[in-house]
Amino acid sequence: MSLYARIAGTGGFLPERVLTNQDIEAIVDTSDEWIRERTGIRKRHLVTQGERCSRLAEVASRRALADAGIDPAALDLIIVATTTPDQVFPSAACFLQQRLGIRGCCAFDLVAGCTGFVYALGVVDQFIRTGGIRRALVVGAEILSYIVDWQDRDTAVLFGDGAGAVVVEAGPEPGILSSHLHAEGAYTDILQVPGGVGDRKRDPYIEMRGNELFKIAVTTLSDVVEETLRANGMQKSELDWLVPHQANFRILQAVVRRLKLPLDRVVVTVGEHANTSSASIPLAFDVAIRDGRIRRGETVLMEAFGGGITWGSVLLVY
Ligand code: UT7
Repeated sequence: MSLYARIAGTGGFLPERVLTNQDIEAIVDTSDEWIRERTGIRKRHLVTQGERCSRLAEVASRRALADAGIDPAALDLIIVATTTPDQVFPSAACFLQQRLGIRGCCAFDLVAGCTGFVYALGVVDQFIRTGGIRRALVVGAEILSYIVDWQDRDTAVLFGDGAGAVVVEAGPEPGILSSHLHAEGAYTDILQVPGGVGDRKRDPYIEMRGNELFKIAVTTLSDVVEETLRANGMQKSELDWLVPHQANFRILQAVVRRLKLPLDRVVVTVGEHANTSSASIPLAFDVAIRDGRIRRGETVLMEAFGGGITWGSVLLVY
């Protein structure tokens, strides 16, 4: 009998503090009009100083566990996809395990930039298909406001903080149908946070060549969607929902236009959440499930693109 990795529950968490485009106008030389037209972003949620990635992850995880009706003690695996862990090590996943009050299960972080959550779902799918585990907690959690240079208008307007989580359970019904994960290390310098271990002379802030990245994102995302549909012998018309990484409404529009998908089948949260990196897909997924758009039995395609560069997709039946 085939085993599938099925989403048993979802949860999200956005910090209370909101920074609007008007608030950013007071920090750098920008305008609400420019930000909305070029990115679709209207506001973002930010933590207050002292907050930790694993705490955001805990709130989202507890909501996902409650939604799934699963006790944290029943988990076999925790993966936290993040670029902003509490510390260099131990992993945010180990801190999260401690916060959840459980012991013994496998726990690790996964770094794949904004593609982290999609990578993590792909990894969990392999564990479940081989029968290695039965229940996993997969979290995307980020405090990007700690690695944004608030004097750099190229990046300060783009990012937000938050966490999204899913509980994945083994079962006979589909489930994750396939995952498609890619990386191209030749582009490590196009989107990066330099500095850190072994290089303390450079500030650990996000550096990005946005314009180049924009073009690569549209091509690779369109390609990975085609690759996913081909691998599953599916037509675009058979997709119920696209839940894309929320980097920029214009990237999303360009991909959707190329694929000739109707925009009302695409979950869009970038206006309210901004780019929360690996948290953006699980947050958007949770929003669309809780407001009743995505229903059990529907087919959902997730796709993401990020630093590395990395890109990938997961096709699943919710
Ligand atoms: O999460 C995954 C990774 N991230 C991405 O995928 C992001 C990909 N890139 C983007 O989303 C877009 O490239 C940006 C939103 C970052 C920039 O939009 P753009 O349309 O590519 O703008 P641009 O960089 O070509 O800049 C256009 C103009 C420039 O002025 P000039 O040279 O035309 O006079 C910039 O200096 O806009 C200026 N500009 C700004 N103006 C007001 C750049 N940032 C700002 C700003 N406010 N915040």
